[in-house]
Amino acid sequence: MFNDLVGLNKRPDPFSVYTVDVLWTDPHISARMLDFHLDAGSNRASRRAASIEGTIGWMDRRFSFKDKSVCDLGCGPGLYSAQMAQRGARVTGVDFSPCSIDYARKTARETGLPLTFNKSDYLKDDLPAEQDIVCLIFCDLCTLSPTQRKVLYNKVHKSLKPGGHFVFDVYSVAQFHQRQEGASYGRRLMDGFWAEGDYFGFMTTFLYGDQKLALDRYLIVEPARRREIFNWLQYFDADTITRELNDNGFCVEQIVDVFSGEQPQTSAGEYAIIARR
Ligand SMILES: C[S@@+](CC[C@H](N)C(=O)[O-])C[C@H]1O[C@@H](n2cnc3c(N)ncnc32)[C@H](O)[C@@H]1O
Repeated sequence: MFNDLVGLNKRPDPFSVYTVDVLWTDPHISARMLDFHLDAGSNRASRRAASIEGTIGWMDRRFSFKDKSVCDLGCGPGLYSAQMAQRGARVTGVDFSPCSIDYARKTARETGLPLTFNKSDYLKDDLPAEQDIVCLIFCDLCTLSPTQRKVLYNKVHKSLKPGGHFVFDVYSVAQFHQRQEGASYGRRLMDGFWAEGDYFGFMTTFLYGDQKLALDRYLIVEPARRREIFNWLQYFDADTITRELNDNGFCVEQIVDVFSGEQPQTSAGEYAIIARR
């Protein structure tokens, strides 16, 4: 146990361990995540319903979804995909969470909307070709290492038609400055989020100031199992993300407020990037 806690308090090299898949594919955790997605008043796995409507509204005004082909990466239970399809898009949702994809497919069958959901990993599997728009919503790019981001940019580039758009959002550097290092633990930490039965959960937060990177490192100790989870979050300034996109064959058309699609009023919150292939 002593060695476990020493390990938990060690600052790992940036992005040296990847455990995002555990969060979204473990049967217990992904079922809890689905509850969060479907809670229209919470921001825990998807944004609140009013925010989703705001984002869909400005994307439709800007790109006009009607008859467009859209790939919604990390679509979760398809909350955005469904609204895009309602506005006339042919949507392919991509997600590796069986729980979310099963829910998304079931809802699509019930509504009869033109939606396809692929249970696949957007870092490993091929994306649909000839897309007008590829989107990645709720700051998922921030969980990826520089190497993984490069893989993703290449896949998105290949998936888009020439002139097609990649639309995604990121956390701002101002949000990084609100974070603090610290540690906490508790029996059934986070209200039973991590496992069905009894467990002790420990969490340490590390900040990497030079890189504007944060890590929440968890140790979950159950009677017969011990797991570690690493949640990395990269925060971006506009120049860095613009440069990164330019280096990967995109041109940034505009940086906008996630909820209104207008010029951001402040640099305090997350923001969306509209990039063109
Ligand atoms: C924060 S949720 C956002 C879901 C959705 N975009 C929304 O805002 O409602 C992130 C989603 O990305 C999915 N995801 C993360 N990494 C993925 C990967 N490599 N391949 C496919 N899906 C992934 C997760 O399963 C999860 O459903």
